[in-house]
Amino acid sequence: ETVALAFSGGLDTTVCVPLLKEEYGYDEVLGVTVDVGQPAAEFDEARETAEALGLEHVVVDAKAEFAELCLDSVRANATYQGYPLGTALARPVIAEAIADAAREHGASALAHGCTGKGNDQLRFEAVWRATEMDVIAPVRELGLTREWESEYAAERELPVEGGSGGRYSIDTNLWSRSIEGSELEDPATIPEDDIYDWTATPGNREREDLTITFEDGRPITLDGENIDPVALIETLNERAGAHGVGRTDMMEDRMLGLKVRENYEHPAATVLLTAHEALEQLVFTAEQRQFKTQIDQRWAEKAYEGLIDAPLVDDLEGFLDSSQQRVTGTVTVRLEGGQVRPVARESEYAVYSESAASFDESAVTGGITQDDATGVAKYHGFQDRLARSASPTATTE
Ligand code: ARG
Ligand code: SIN
Repeated sequence: ETVALAFSGGLDTTVCVPLLKEEYGYDEVLGVTVDVGQPAAEFDEARETAEALGLEHVVVDAKAEFAELCLDSVRANATYQGYPLGTALARPVIAEAIADAAREHGASALAHGCTGKGNDQLRFEAVWRATEMDVIAPVRELGLTREWESEYAAERELPVEGGSGGRYSIDTNLWSRSIEGSELEDPATIPEDDIYDWTATPGNREREDLTITFEDGRPITLDGENIDPVALIETLNERAGAHGVGRTDMMEDRMLGLKVRENYEHPAATVLLTAHEALEQLVFTAEQRQFKTQIDQRWAEKAYEGLIDAPLVDDLEGFLDSSQQRVTGTVTVRLEGGQVRPVARESEYAVYSESAASFDESAVTGGITQDDATGVAKYHGFQDRLARSASPTATTE
């Protein structure tokens, strides 16, 4: 019997390998690492660890597919409590890729190294429980802690990184880098600068402008050059990261209700979300902007839950498809001092008339003059005045 394990070469998944054989009785463990844009060093680590463990190991490339999903999330301005959802979006993609690899290798079970306290167990299993294979969660089922895992790894001489590399639980993909654990679990602890890898400490770096063109809500060019989604995200992570753009230090409400302290880096996500929203501000009517926040919020919640395949999400996509037809145009954003902000935007779909806003003559506005507002101004606040004048004014003694 073979079990396919979601394998990163980190502490959790490394200790799972002997445990799946000894505690669960599997003959063979297949380690599957899915490429969703982790840095190259992580694949080296996974490969080396697998080799040292004598683990059969495959790497599956899901980068392009994942990048498309990241750009889908931009159409929905998707963030959860301020976090751009990198881990959350990646999990269903990883889970599907592992299930496919497991089938190819004739595995009868699927395993992950997630804890029983987090979100990832739910996201993996939502995908896996739709398959014919068994689902195993050794860390949760055996009640493992990271301290126990470290000791077990030392005892068994398992090939795990010691020191600060293993101090945090880090999850990296194209869209975000998450840093959890150790002293960061105390919300009152200020993180050391060395927890950051993608973002520089904002210094006196000279500001830099980036111009992004969107078509139907999807970014297609950067500074006038066509660019594919993976390259776009990688480039923006570097360029915006150098300015310290895209750090989040937050309290996050997990699905199970646990509140946790999270640190994230996500320069590209911050740039693309900022630019996209700036364009929507230009091309939507006020009520389209207002209503879409509800669609966006529901989309982000389903993404956070790892349930991006839910029928509700298909329905939300219908709204996105239609609304994004206007989201075509160009936005310039400025990177400066750890911040990104829009500084210019243009679109043929702009719901904007410069002459109307400045009250010059214009055909579009049907000859509206300043004087036309007089009646509106008389009515404005009418009910409030009535309500106030009808309030009992008697004072109680
Ligand atoms: N809390 C985030 C999420 O649920 C990120 C978790 C990342 N995992 C990690 N081991 N750092 O999406
Ligand atoms: C874990 O608990 O395994 C990682 C964090 C999470 O899933 O939210």
